[in-house]
Amino acid sequence: MMEAISERAAKQFDVENVRRDFSVLERKINGHALCYLDNAATSQRPKAVVDAVVESLTWSNANIHRAIHTLGYEATVAYEEAHKKVARFINAKSWREIVFVRNATEALNLVAGSWGAANLRAGDEVVVTIMEHHSNIVPWQLLAARLGFELKFIPVTPDGILDLDAAAKLITRKTKLVGAVHASNVLGAINPVEKLREMARSVGARFLLDGAQSIPHMAVDVRALDCDFFAASGHKMCGPTGIGFLYAKKELLDGMPPFLGGGDMIATVTTNGSTWNELPWKFEAGTSAVAEGIGMGAAVDYLSNIGMNSLFEYERELGGYVLEKLRALPYVTLYGHKRGESLAVFSLNVEGVHPHDGANLLDRLGIAVRSGHHCAQPLMNVLGMDNTLRASFYFYNTREEADRLVHALGELKRVFDR
Ligand code: ALA
Repeated sequence: MMEAISERAAKQFDVENVRRDFSVLERKINGHALCYLDNAATSQRPKAVVDAVVESLTWSNANIHRAIHTLGYEATVAYEEAHKKVARFINAKSWREIVFVRNATEALNLVAGSWGAANLRAGDEVVVTIMEHHSNIVPWQLLAARLGFELKFIPVTPDGILDLDAAAKLITRKTKLVGAVHASNVLGAINPVEKLREMARSVGARFLLDGAQSIPHMAVDVRALDCDFFAASGHKMCGPTGIGFLYAKKELLDGMPPFLGGGDMIATVTTNGSTWNELPWKFEAGTSAVAEGIGMGAAVDYLSNIGMNSLFEYERELGGYVLEKLRALPYVTLYGHKRGESLAVFSLNVEGVHPHDGANLLDRLGIAVRSGHHCAQPLMNVLGMDNTLRASFYFYNTREEADRLVHALGELKRVFDR
């Protein structure tokens, strides 16, 4: 039954049609058609997003919230509308719960620097997973060094999934915040975040999700997730670089002090002190990334038109195909993908091939993958590796591209065996 539903959804999704929206997919790299499998690092942008950015820069360029003139009005309306689009996309209660920032990293730094600095003290604990990207570790480490609270890590099982028994022991009355990556950028694992949220709630802790990898691939409903904070980057979800967002419940944002001070985030400034602008501007100091924000709004429109459920089903089917092929290669060690649900993100090593050499040779065959520690060194350490090759698929990738990757991994093995 599930399979039938999934097949139907995948059929509605016309990959050849969506590929036409991405001019870059027509490129030849080193004489081969580009096979772009580095989507966990950054996605490509469809024409609709590029057009929205160009239009904003060309025809409606002005600063926002500062001018009475027509261009200023147009830019302000379009930028605010982009917040509303993001709010609808994630089912936030109010668009005022959407703060535009540079990327998920900045969103997480905002939570630590504002909520964390105001609410944490020595004796408290923050619990995150060992699967976190550095951006949900380092801001807490920096703050812990200042305030003296403890940062603890939920481990993974040998299968590469979160150890929920260990989580249940780590999350105690001392825990003030539980933070988790919604989907791992290394393993692709989609984490059981509802279970973590229940653990957080049972001790009165706040619950934060790093959604940088999840939101490009799956429908996100922050009210159903009931998270307090949700961080995302525009550039991984078909939007421009330099723009992302933090969702936070309004009552939390209301109580949090500003993160950055300057223009637009104030209501009044005197020599004795200042008062703050209404949400979300209280957290958007300085001239905003206006065109990029508008571009992220266009990306959300684009993804909504495709439909996140149909996109997810297509990728799930494609991911299953890739997995079967990779598992059949005896010289490939694949990390994760043993239990639970995963995105089509595959970290692997080819016997006898350093990942950087492998990525280099794949590039010569027109295949773009990432090699390295993927900004997740604590996870890499517990899995016992320094570097991997990572192939991360998106909805514009195809089975033919998966076949090219698999064939190229065989080439790698042959070349380096010589
Ligand atoms: N966080 C991005 C990645 O996983 C850059 O590649």
